[in-house]
Amino acid sequence: MKRTERICISVPSDLLAEFDKVVMDIGYPNRSKALQDAMRAFLAELKSSKELSGMVNGAIVMIYEHGKPGLVEELLEIQHEHDGIIAATLHIHLTEEDCLEVLAVRGEARQIRELADALRVKKGVKALRAVVL
Ligand code: NI
Repeated sequence: MKRTERICISVPSDLLAEFDKVVMDIGYPNRSKALQDAMRAFLAELKSSKELSGMVNGAIVMIYEHGKPGLVEELLEIQHEHDGIIAATLHIHLTEEDCLEVLAVRGEARQIRELADALRVKKGVKALRAVVL
């Protein structure tokens, strides 16, 4: 049997409640197995994005909490640092808390990956997906 580690992580209560509900609906035996699957899916997604190279077109779609102090400024600053590959942006005020932003991008796959990664790691960015064609 493979060695396992016990970890302690902080998760927003509403996210945990939603996760637990979905995990139970699917029929997972426990939260650990579901989290392991989610971690593997995350790693697979990042790995497949790393295999892309050359010029690509696409979009970065993200949802973030606009009320998180300093977050909007940080996201804007990152976008300005990468303005050479952002062709257009679309902003939708989703709910009282959340905004959805779509960045139409065109450039080297590596640059788009760097932009997506710089945005995704910010606290308050709840979901981000980069789609390239
Ligand atoms: Ni908004």
